[in-house]
Amino acid sequence: MHDVCIREVRAGDEAGIERLLEGLDPESRYRRWFTGAVDLHRAADWAAHPERFSAVGLLAIVDEELVGHAVLIPAPQGRGEVAFEVAAPWRYHGIAGTLLERLLDAAAARGLRELYAEVLLGNADMLAVLREHGEHAESREGGVVTVTLPVGSRPATTSPSSRS
Ligand SMILES: CC(C)(COP(=O)(O)OP(=O)(O)OC[C@H]1O[C@@H](n2cnc3c(N)ncnc32)[C@H](O)[C@@H]1OP(=O)(O)O)[C@@H](O)C(=O)NCCC(=O)NCCS
Repeated sequence: MHDVCIREVRAGDEAGIERLLEGLDPESRYRRWFTGAVDLHRAADWAAHPERFSAVGLLAIVDEELVGHAVLIPAPQGRGEVAFEVAAPWRYHGIAGTLLERLLDAAAARGLRELYAEVLLGNADMLAVLREHGEHAESREGGVVTVTLPVGSRPATTSPSSRS
């Protein structure tokens, strides 16, 4: 059993994030960025500095190893877009689900109304995480499903989540 620690991205995380992204197989990269030609160094630089975009960046860490990343990017009209990457050996442990819960807390703290994710139709794992959360709405355009979750009022989180 391993404890999963969730914390915000902070200065100095860029190299760890880049290692996480480099470890993603081509299919995972495509599912995350909708292209096979993503510049991972740029993507890591972007993810390591959420403050540049008024975004919220979260990391999942196990035994000091960075195993997951999630981001909430503010969008117009009280919305926020979310996206996730979890290292393959750590999938199906509920890490993305835990990161989503924490992003919903962050969204509530910011007064956002709803979060959404744009997910490829074939990305069953991401769709499952979002659908299993509970109340949601879906729309589809071509091969992309937009899943929207209401933020609602949520109790404040006082300590890092642990799931293993
Ligand atoms: C999509 C992705 C982020 C999901 O991460 P994850 O940490 O494996 O997600 P979770 O573990 O929270 O949930 C995924 C599945 O595990 C299941 N699960 C959750 N907790 C579990 C547990 N404790 N034990 C076993 N399975 C569990 C969920 O029910 C879900 O299963 P299902 O698909 O059979 O319904 C990950 O697969 C990934 O990084 N993919 C590539 C990038 C990507 O697609 N990003 C999304 C773009 S928005």
